[in-house]
Amino acid sequence: MAPRVPGLLLLLSLPFFLASFALAFNVSTIGFDEGYTPLFGDGNLVRSSDGKSVRLLLDRYTGSGFISSDYYNHGFFSASIKLPSDYTAGIVVAFYTSNGDIFEKTHDELDFEFLGNIRGKKWRLQTNLYGNGSTSRGREERYTLWFDPSEEFHRYSILWTEKNIIFYVDEVPIREIVRNEAMGSDYPSKPMSLYATIWDGSAWATAGGRYKVDYDYAPFVSEFHDLTLRGCRVDPIQQRLAGDCNDETAELSAADYAVITPERRMAMRKFRQQYMTYSYCYDTLRYPVPPPECVVLPSEQRRFKDTGRVIKFSGGHHNHHHRRHSKKTRTRSAAKVAGDSAM
Ligand SMILES: *[C@@H]1O[C@H](CO)[C@@H](O)[C@H](O)[C@H]1NC(C)=O
Ligand SMILES: *[C@@H]1O[C@H](CO)[C@@H](O)[C@H](O)[C@H]1NC(C)=O
Repeated sequence: MAPRVPGLLLLLSLPFFLASFALAFNVSTIGFDEGYTPLFGDGNLVRSSDGKSVRLLLDRYTGSGFISSDYYNHGFFSASIKLPSDYTAGIVVAFYTSNGDIFEKTHDELDFEFLGNIRGKKWRLQTNLYGNGSTSRGREERYTLWFDPSEEFHRYSILWTEKNIIFYVDEVPIREIVRNEAMGSDYPSKPMSLYATIWDGSAWATAGGRYKVDYDYAPFVSEFHDLTLRGCRVDPIQQRLAGDCNDETAELSAADYAVITPERRMAMRKFRQQYMTYSYCYDTLRYPVPPPECVVLPSEQRRFKDTGRVIKFSGGHHNHHHRRHSKKTRTRSAAKVAGDSAM
């Protein structure tokens, strides 16, 4: 009996521990028209009456999206987002930075992509980055979350500086990419705009395309508020004098979110231990030599197959947990593994 207790405690306490980071950063928010413009699916983009938030809808005719009105040379891009609920298979909600509209062959990109699921199964979150058109070198990581992202608003943020990139969920840093020289131009370096979109990803989003969008459940509604854009606004084509961005760069590096405190680092480690389901760094079939920014931790690597996918039922507390449950639960868990391995 005794050995079960710490495991069970950990299992129960981790979501609470991570939830304690739900406080928003101390950032100023802007109205939709102060920083963004509609991108596509105009009729499916619905502003709130106070202009502070926006809903993006997907129906059988179109998805929708918006874009920041300016390009930013480094920045902090953030919003509180609530995802569609119920049956969301095949749906993709993306919150990302890119400059693909002006640099077709050499674009940079930083992604949050939310992948819908069949009823009763969790949304999955993917992060990724590209630099200077490195589209043949995907750097995907995939996770589940410690909460249901369709139930309430959570803040999702991308910090991009010259030195590092941090993806945040609330105040938990879930991924950090520290720039190193060997990455070369794979590290995003040209000004980017912020995009938010909802679209039909039936071909791949859920179990590799096995489950499509079911428009009987449309419209699918995602909501964005607490809109935040920080950084140096620039014209990406025009040459700028070195030093033009000094003030904004200083502001970024002085901000709360620029620092991964020891407490946040612990939260990041725990999140990744418990919720990361795929990492390109451990996908040795795809990358026999991990890309240069990868920090390969043997303790972490043990949990992943050579496909980069997590091995389920490996954690001690998982075993205790499952042993306590009926055969029915185990069957359902097995189905989850099958679903995950097809995603
Ligand atoms: C939040 O930031 C503003 C100015 O940027 C500052 O005046 C205020 O004291 C900050 N609040 C907290 C709780 O740190
Ligand atoms: C980006 O890619 C283009 C085309 O492949 C190349 O000419 C250019 O030198 C690259 N830029 C950097 C900064 O490496």
